[in-house]
Amino acid sequence: MNEIKVFCPATIANISCGFDVLGVALDAVGDEMVVRKTAEKGIRINKIIGQDLPLETEKNVAGVAGLALLENTDYSGGFEIEIYKKIKPGSGIGSSAASSSGAVWAINQLLGKPFNTTQLVQFAMEGERLASDVAHADNVAPALFGGFTLVRSYQPLDIITIPAPKELYATIIHPQIEVKTSDSRKILKSTISMETGIKQWGNVGGLVAGLFKEDYDLIGRSLEDHIVEPIRSILIPGFDKVKAASISAGALGCGISGSGPSIFAFSKGNDTALKVGKAMKEVYKAIDITFDIHVSKVNTEGIKILP
Ligand code: HSE
Repeated sequence: MNEIKVFCPATIANISCGFDVLGVALDAVGDEMVVRKTAEKGIRINKIIGQDLPLETEKNVAGVAGLALLENTDYSGGFEIEIYKKIKPGSGIGSSAASSSGAVWAINQLLGKPFNTTQLVQFAMEGERLASDVAHADNVAPALFGGFTLVRSYQPLDIITIPAPKELYATIIHPQIEVKTSDSRKILKSTISMETGIKQWGNVGGLVAGLFKEDYDLIGRSLEDHIVEPIRSILIPGFDKVKAASISAGALGCGISGSGPSIFAFSKGNDTALKVGKAMKEVYKAIDITFDIHVSKVNTEGIKILP
């Protein structure tokens, strides 16, 4: 096989209580990428359609992630990459992670799968380092493993996959403002109180247990963030109203997707997720902010080969 086309899913990182450790892959939105073997060594980004992003390998997250993988092989050739961006950078649904993960996953396939998924996460994290100054794994892990993932430890990297309840749907609204992850990380505090920690890790445990038990009420109760949301929500116009409207429309819970400005809600069933979407839209229509909206079931496979 010399060429492969892949779907690289959007992801929701943090999932309210799990800053930098929890994430989930989506089905309804993602980038596409074509990766081809070349005789020339290294990685070349040939084409980017849909967004204005750098083609220079060292400045492109897919390029940097691909190079991190190649440095660990003795492969004498290289790869060229075409990226069809459907996820807007700065949207909070893992735009950089989709490109970084797609590149390393596709290259691994073309090389005959020398690396396991955790190793691919490690390479893709180099793309995240370029995009946000920090090599966080909570978007690239679900993109590569599929479903929900927990980064139990960064050193050494230890990723736990978590099953997705069958009727769990996500609604994501993306108000059309850009929030750079690097900026929204700078405003966070570097310490928390013991009291806040206790509430937060109670919720992380509750959410993980709720996902395993398919206990939708427990999932909803655990979608609380005492650390990041109170600070970052200030950057997102209408956040409190969207959250209140989502819960009134039947959502289990609602929070900031990744570093924002996208807002996500989880619901039991597609019908409720659609109703939640309608309620979210009304909020932004009333305050005259344009938006994109997605309703998606959980993507349990992660990156997929396209025909
Ligand atoms: N955990 C990261 C953050 C995710 O919140 O900064 C960025 O998508």
